[in-house]
Amino acid sequence: MKVGILTGGGDCPGLNAVIRAVAKSLMLQCGATVIGIEDGFLGLIERRTRELSYKDVSGILSRGGTILGTHNKANPFAYFGRDGEDVSAEVKGYCDELGLDCVVALGGDGTMSICHRLQQMGLNIVGVPKTIDNDLMQTDRTFGFDTAVTIATDALDRLQTTGQSHSRVMILETMGRYAGWIALHAGIAGGADVILLPEIPFTVEEVARVCQAREDRQRFTIICVAEGATAEDGKMVVRERIDNSPDPLRLGGVANWLKAELSEHISSEIRTVVLGHVQRGGPPTAYDRVLATSFGTMAASLVARKEFGRMVALQEQRMTSVALEEVANLTRTVPPDAMGVLAAAAVGTSFGAPKM
Ligand code: F6P
Repeated sequence: MKVGILTGGGDCPGLNAVIRAVAKSLMLQCGATVIGIEDGFLGLIERRTRELSYKDVSGILSRGGTILGTHNKANPFAYFGRDGEDVSAEVKGYCDELGLDCVVALGGDGTMSICHRLQQMGLNIVGVPKTIDNDLMQTDRTFGFDTAVTIATDALDRLQTTGQSHSRVMILETMGRYAGWIALHAGIAGGADVILLPEIPFTVEEVARVCQAREDRQRFTIICVAEGATAEDGKMVVRERIDNSPDPLRLGGVANWLKAELSEHISSEIRTVVLGHVQRGGPPTAYDRVLATSFGTMAASLVARKEFGRMVALQEQRMTSVALEEVANLTRTVPPDAMGVLAAAAVGTSFGAPKM
């Protein structure tokens, strides 16, 4: 058996743990040859692959990033290198040439959509859900999320003490694209006073009222804002900025905008911190190592059983799998019920439009 493996989209803590689990399981249990595909789908387009040895995948469990490299714009159905040409047939041909029985693809919603289309063309694929954003359908968790939340929480802990010492409003901007999962979880874990999510449009006036009320009592305020948070009045439609701005202009958009707007309403000093890619770098947490290893082992079982066209998933604490078509082109934002439950646990915290 010959199996290709690739990592698509942005990097994420735990990718190497999955690669290790997939490769070791397949090598040991099926005697499979594992082919590492470099830089995501770009490696299939540009014919850059290498056989992975047992040694290549040893000692990488705790290492951040991906030993295979990744490329977040490499799409065989619209290849940027040839003016958006569809090169999917070449990709399929190359996989056949290599004699791959299956490709295991680690990625987010974009990667899963590509996987679904390649599967429809007859290429056997097994997907593994990856993203710090935790916004994939059909899985309760993606690996990388816990690490991102842990890093953002640590940042909030540190902003609490410096914010308190200087009686300042401290704004932390987290990643997460269109979903507020990282901001919500880190905001609660880090005791933020205001948490702004894409799922609840906010107004600057209401945030300012919270800051003012706290200024009168505790004299400092911690705001945790998701990069996709959107102002209700449409003055700051961050979603559009995310879609239309070239990187890295997007990062720091909402925190810095909010700082400028708030300073029109309150007299406190305001400081911003944009965590950016710090949330994605470095070693995965223990939780993410376990989840990534479980996902990788499960993916290898699917390959061994020839259950292709599926993505591994965690549902209600159980490892399972779902059809790729159930996840392709879909994202999972924070549902109102999750916000309600978590809000109840977060005493004194304001979500989106704040109610003090
Ligand atoms: O999807 C993961 C993510 O880190 C998002 O949270 C963020 O918006 C985006 O990727 C950043 O992408 P890039 O690495 O292209 O700047």
